[in-house]
Amino acid sequence: MNWTLAARAEKMNPSVIREILKVTEKPGIISFAGGLPSPKTFPVAEFRAACEKVLTEDGPASLQYAASEGYGPLREMVAAGLPWKVSPSQVLITTGSQQGLDLIAKILIDQGSRILVETPTYLGALQAFTPMEPRAVAVASDDEGLRADDFQAKAGQGAERARFAYLLPNFQNPTGRTMSEARRAAVVAVAQETGVPLVEDNPYGDLWFDQPPPAPLTARNREGGVYLGSFSKVLAPGLRLGFMVAPPGLYPKLLQAKQAADLHSPSFNQRMVAQVMQDGFLGRHVPTIRALYKSQRDHMLAALEREMPEGVQWNKPVGGMFLWVRLPQGVDAVALLPRAVERNVAFVPGAAFYADTPETHTMRLSFVTASHSQIDTGIAALAQTIREAIAALDTQRQAAPVQL
Ligand SMILES: Cc1ncc(COP(=O)(O)O)c(C=O)c1O
Repeated sequence: MNWTLAARAEKMNPSVIREILKVTEKPGIISFAGGLPSPKTFPVAEFRAACEKVLTEDGPASLQYAASEGYGPLREMVAAGLPWKVSPSQVLITTGSQQGLDLIAKILIDQGSRILVETPTYLGALQAFTPMEPRAVAVASDDEGLRADDFQAKAGQGAERARFAYLLPNFQNPTGRTMSEARRAAVVAVAQETGVPLVEDNPYGDLWFDQPPPAPLTARNREGGVYLGSFSKVLAPGLRLGFMVAPPGLYPKLLQAKQAADLHSPSFNQRMVAQVMQDGFLGRHVPTIRALYKSQRDHMLAALEREMPEGVQWNKPVGGMFLWVRLPQGVDAVALLPRAVERNVAFVPGAAFYADTPETHTMRLSFVTASHSQIDTGIAALAQTIREAIAALDTQRQAAPVQL
């Protein structure tokens, strides 16, 4: 049978990077490549107890079809936990925040619609948006995220006005960077002046190390923003539960898209999460994740400091799971990966995260899942691979004929 694929399916090609990353599944490899939370943080005992309780007290309903908006008590808890006034009626429980991105793509993007993204940005968002065939425009970004001046310049007008700007203000995936208070204010001012809605994705916001990040963009831009949150990084990603907070004007369309996608997110999982969270559990649990991830970050920073050759730079994220490494210009991280894998260490080449021209001398390292001794061994192996690549580049440059 010759299947004729829709144009949007043709756009769903697996990324080259994902293919390359398959080699990182080799046994014994020390992987800084994954985007997984540390399984040490999963509250298994609490879920065991919650499972028993939900089935005993609410068994049939927890196994029945349910409302597309989500489980009422969970929507109330989500609304109450946000740092600005949100009505539970604005909360839509989603099947992971990844589904939120998919729903946004479906209701806001036409073929050729202009959308704005950070440089670099979350690969999974690009994958969710791409099938709707937008024109994704990369807005210049610096250590604080999206630059307000370039946002203004690229906002567009009339039919060309961007449908939305997609932003990750806290401990961004992939760079780990965080938007300052001043930058948030400037970005919201541009959004309000130009009329470009903001889609704010915040799965890592609770995972701060020393102090909480500034208030979300949506808290200052309630009518002009959609906010996405997730239970994946504070409880467990296998639950596949997240949420959106949408203004009343947009909510019904998101709900219709949600109904078409999966009717509703799992009733049983929603009740379990509500049960686990009921007595303020997150207030006790999340600080343990912060402490673990902070010690992991510190260990990786110390290893980088000790091992990396001159010319390699990295940032010091103040929360989340990732840090961002810049290699000397000309050292291509995609070409480096197979050589690193030969030494049993893996990372994600930064090129995966760009909507347009990638910076090929960058890489993302996750610091949360490897043990301290794996971090020591893995960073030493990575540094050795980089040292060799720099030496090879120097030899190449010396051998190249001088251009007059
Ligand atoms: C920035 C960002 N948004 C969304 C997601 C999706 O998370 P989930 O669907 O598990 O809530 C991730 C997952 O890693 C992420 O890094």
